[in-house]
Amino acid sequence: MRALSVDLGERSYPVLIGDGVRHELARLLPPTAQAAAIVTQDAVQAAGWLDGLDPDLPFEVFTIPDGEGAKSLATVESLSCGFAQFGLSRADVVVAVGGGIVTDVAGFTAAVYHRGTAYVNIATSLLAQVDAAIGGKTGVNLPEGKNLVGAFWQPSAVLCDTETLSSLPPREWACGRGEMAKYAFLGEAPHPDQGVDEQVARCVAIKAAVVADDEREGGRRMVLNYGHTLAHALEGAAQTRHDWDLRHGEAVAIGLMFAALLAQRLGRIDESRVTEHRRVIGGYDLPSELPPGAEAGELVAFMGRDKKAHQDLTFVLDGPRGVETVRGVAPSDVLATLADMGAPS
Ligand code: GLY
Repeated sequence: MRALSVDLGERSYPVLIGDGVRHELARLLPPTAQAAAIVTQDAVQAAGWLDGLDPDLPFEVFTIPDGEGAKSLATVESLSCGFAQFGLSRADVVVAVGGGIVTDVAGFTAAVYHRGTAYVNIATSLLAQVDAAIGGKTGVNLPEGKNLVGAFWQPSAVLCDTETLSSLPPREWACGRGEMAKYAFLGEAPHPDQGVDEQVARCVAIKAAVVADDEREGGRRMVLNYGHTLAHALEGAAQTRHDWDLRHGEAVAIGLMFAALLAQRLGRIDESRVTEHRRVIGGYDLPSELPPGAEAGELVAFMGRDKKAHQDLTFVLDGPRGVETVRGVAPSDVLATLADMGAPS
């Protein structure tokens, strides 16, 4: 088992990584807790990941539906009503057991239930283990956009149980690998040939350091969005292009390649660094080409709407000082880079 920590003063918390670490739950619960609300999904329960999970407290299990549609205010209301009927108090604890959808929704419900209740994440997907479960970003979607309602609310502990990855469908691995590829450019990189515990731990260490430095994304934390501006645009365009079958991690991989080519066009990195991006993305068995029929104009329009972009076109780009936020990128450079990747304007 590997033990890391997210250092945030009195809100610091441990992150345990390893096979079976979900069984460490009881000793990581807040001492005030006298009851636990476990939030999960049917598929996680069906895989057996709640079997023998013992908070050593009275508990009730609450399931939310599968899919992005479960990240809604309706789910927050339904969970909150369930917690209240169970008698969960502010001193008690919410335990999220699942992937990023579960940790986002349960974390946000914990943030607002009784104006803030402790929660612990047991992350069961690679994406959640290397990204979503760590750092306290919680939230739900609105019809107008993803993650538009949320809170920074840090968990009390995160358990990245790598045993649970054995039930992960192959395409879900791609989701996590896209985020792993991102970390390869942000710190001491994980390597696809390492054991999964070591790879997860390296990603967690990079994310923990960034979050400790900039908890509420005032600046440096934006580097965690490396590759995501084009990824979100592709995901937006995919809503109406039913022939595109893109997972988030695959979109991030294409976004990383685009970011490298844009940085090269802007004179920030050279050809060898672009080749390094291609090598890392390929090493994680992820795509680096735009999907067929991608249109540059449509993608740029989506980029302008990305809530993480500001007034002008803002990107997280590699450069001589490493990966950083770059504002005021000319749309003509973005269009030309997309054209180089095969997307007509
Ligand atoms: N997933 C990006 C962040 O946590 O900041």
